[in-house]
Amino acid sequence: MPRYDNFQLIARRGVWPEIAASRDFDSVDRQIMSQSDSSSTSDTNTLWGGRFSESTDQFVQAFTASVTFDKRMYRQDIAGSRAHATMLMKSGVITEQDCESIQSGLNSIEKEIEAGQFQWSVALEDVHMNIESALTAKIGDAGKRLHTGRSRNDQVATDIRLYLRDACDVASSEFRRLLEGLLILAETHSNTIMPGFTHLQTAQPVTFGHHVMAWFEMLLRDLDRLADTRRRLNSMPLGAAALAGTSYPIQREITRELLGFDTVCENSLDAVSDRDFAIEFCSNTAICLMHLSRIAEELVLWMSAQFRFVELPDRFCTGSSIMPQKKNPDVPELVRGKTGRANGNLIALLTLMKSQPLAYNKDNQEDKEPLFDSVDTLMGCLRAFADMLPAIEVRKEEMLAAAKSGFSTATDLADYLVRKGLAFRDAHEVVGAAVAYGLANELDLSDMSLEVLQGFSSDIDEDVFDVLTLEGSVTARSHIGGTAPEAVRAAIVRAKGRLAATYIPS
Ligand code: ARG
Repeated sequence: MPRYDNFQLIARRGVWPEIAASRDFDSVDRQIMSQSDSSSTSDTNTLWGGRFSESTDQFVQAFTASVTFDKRMYRQDIAGSRAHATMLMKSGVITEQDCESIQSGLNSIEKEIEAGQFQWSVALEDVHMNIESALTAKIGDAGKRLHTGRSRNDQVATDIRLYLRDACDVASSEFRRLLEGLLILAETHSNTIMPGFTHLQTAQPVTFGHHVMAWFEMLLRDLDRLADTRRRLNSMPLGAAALAGTSYPIQREITRELLGFDTVCENSLDAVSDRDFAIEFCSNTAICLMHLSRIAEELVLWMSAQFRFVELPDRFCTGSSIMPQKKNPDVPELVRGKTGRANGNLIALLTLMKSQPLAYNKDNQEDKEPLFDSVDTLMGCLRAFADMLPAIEVRKEEMLAAAKSGFSTATDLADYLVRKGLAFRDAHEVVGAAVAYGLANELDLSDMSLEVLQGFSSDIDEDVFDVLTLEGSVTARSHIGGTAPEAVRAAIVRAKGRLAATYIPS
């Protein structure tokens, strides 16, 4: 079942279009702004000219315009207008003929925009008025009837929700690609032993597969948050008109169905004025970027000559213009750095919405740039990590060697003594003394002879060496959530089902 009935899917599949097309957008923006400098203002704003005795100040025109950034919602705006026109026709507000010319006019406008032939104008303020006036220029009076029973207030709120719904769906596919890559990486390394850290000091041995599955858990929750936001935002503002609804006999069920919304917004004042769904998206992005920055930080550390746990493929790194030996982990560093703007966008939107009286205020126009920036940032970071993580080279020997130093099995020795009858605190003390001896003599616990170990406790027997090995340590932690290879493999099996249940099918 296609989601938009006879409408094409709004988002392009695959690559998020804004990232692919960002260079074009820059040049188009410059073109639009220069039109504003040179064009006369005498014919501006014919959409409300009746009430006004002078045209808008030229600076104010550019200052209040949003078309340079909201034109990216043109597909959603056109889809909304098509559905609105169909509904008006079915409700007997406009004729079938008017509806048909609106549909074909909108079709050709969409084609012009996609071909880069549409003349955007700052004088026409935003994407909505640009498209509406192009429609009227193209089809005449029928174009003037499109806005019956509608306001830009419910129109823009609808457009943003449609846009964000598409963004959630595309982001969801990128999440899935990333998470599936992590599952393969975890499976490949379910037996690979590395030191686990607390305070960035060697703590206990873990498997690298287990570590990767920790990343998986963090990001699966992020995907779940996205699915949750999508569910909540999929309610239709259209029909709320400016703020109070409309006196035309509209049938919101028809537009709802055509646009694939689950419900209609219940309250017209709320429908046009809240942007909490955008805040949620920015909050989800900030949380996800926080997670990605933690992974990024580990990769940066692990790629250093001091760790040498992983190697990133050259295509994700850059060199230095002065130091010939350098290979810098630019992609993880940049993802780590992107958390700044993600947090900034969230704070910008929270601050924007705070204290706004009901219903719509022009302040709301400021919602788009932070939101779009968060969308682009999330898409870019997910894509970079989905491409990069499955391609990392894992240096098992370095990880193993690092796990062997730093007394990572000290807790295992304490647990061994507890099983022999000592109280845990006493066992802790005994092992502490053994570690001090090891530090002074540059010996790991597993390198000490039985006699030396027995010098710390007479409860120690030959079988102690089973627990002092790294393999013994990880294998012993085989419960759900533990680091044992067997537990990791079982977690991966469950994770596949959990991912399938969380992913948003579009
Ligand atoms: N460009 C406006 C925005 O983004 C559209 C809505 C304008 N409505 C109005 N009454 N000025 O919010």
